[in-house]
Amino acid sequence: MQNADAYYLYDEAVILENLRVLAQTFPNFSFFYSAKTNPNPHILNTLIKNDCGIDAASAGEVRLAVKHGLSPEKISYSAPGKTDEDIRYALPRSRIIADSIGELLRIDKIAGELGGKFEIGIRINPPFGMDSPFGVSSQFGIDYESLGEIPDLSNVQITSIHTHVQSQNLGWEILARYYENVLSLARSMKKEGFAIGTVNLGSGCGIVYDEETQSPLDMEALGAAVGKLTEKYADVSRSLIIEPGRYLVGKAGVFRTRVLDKKVSRGKTYLIASGGMNGFLRPAAANIAKLYGPVNRGAEPLISCEKPCGITVLNDSTETEVVTITGNLCSGFDVFARDITLPKAEVGDFIEFSNAGSYACTLSLREFASQPKVREFFRTVDGEVLE
Ligand SMILES: Cc1ncc(COP(=O)(O)O)c(C=O)c1O
Repeated sequence: MQNADAYYLYDEAVILENLRVLAQTFPNFSFFYSAKTNPNPHILNTLIKNDCGIDAASAGEVRLAVKHGLSPEKISYSAPGKTDEDIRYALPRSRIIADSIGELLRIDKIAGELGGKFEIGIRINPPFGMDSPFGVSSQFGIDYESLGEIPDLSNVQITSIHTHVQSQNLGWEILARYYENVLSLARSMKKEGFAIGTVNLGSGCGIVYDEETQSPLDMEALGAAVGKLTEKYADVSRSLIIEPGRYLVGKAGVFRTRVLDKKVSRGKTYLIASGGMNGFLRPAAANIAKLYGPVNRGAEPLISCEKPCGITVLNDSTETEVVTITGNLCSGFDVFARDITLPKAEVGDFIEFSNAGSYACTLSLREFASQPKVREFFRTVDGEVLE
């Protein structure tokens, strides 16, 4: 990690512990890691080695999963707006999930051109929300009410369904109710003649970003509820999937940045650091959102809450001071935090931000201003640090 002014550090032990908790909570499920959360190759390796599949949000992520040796049944490819080229590449290499009836027809046609018979899935836009009895209009999936409009298909068979309506939920009862609604919907579809082999319930398990205002998801209570559901809906499908992202890796990463300059402007002390919006965008994004009012509801995956991370200074200082921490871009909005009390930091010290394992490195404006790209390191369970 020497010579890096700004870098991420991911901790394999934390990822494995999170996977263990998920496996305990969802004992009969397969986990398909949502690669867009953090496609770092060491993270992918760790999760794949531990039997996770990949939820790919693009043909690029299907490519990544194939490169890591995954077979088609361990890759689920779900994204709106697939090109013909995406479909042609992904069809033989993944379980492709159609996002509209138009796309389903294109997939069927391309499957015919490829000369195969493929099992595929459809994403359903359900007639309910995560915490609401009403469905909404959405760019994702096929409206449940429109399923009757699906024509006969020649070259593909729909054998799985996929839903995902919301991320970052911390209420176990909300999640359990949502899972039950999805399983009940799957049961209805089965009765209507769909040959459902797999139900993918999407994601939803949230993490605590702000220790002061949020409480962790009660995985024990969720596990008990999931256990009852899997018994009650045992007839519905052979295989159940969830596709967690942040739960696995969000708290397994920190972002560290070096103080490059310290100055006082009209009474305010500034720490100017490397890699702001171009390194770890989420704190700046939350600050920008705050300018427009209270951040009651997030804008995932960019903004989850008003205080998306903890901030510490990596030195032994016992004195504190009130500082504003900024990045070094030419934007007045490149601000990590305003007017916070921290141990006194000097030029050369590192500041550490927590909750930086998901929707962080790849979500940031890494090309902006031709600044050096932040680096990523991975600490293995054996303590080795890999780049
Ligand atoms: C379809 C789908 N699956 C899984 C996820 C992962 O969500 P999370 O990181 O909150 O677990 C997302 C996130 O937006 C998603 O859109």
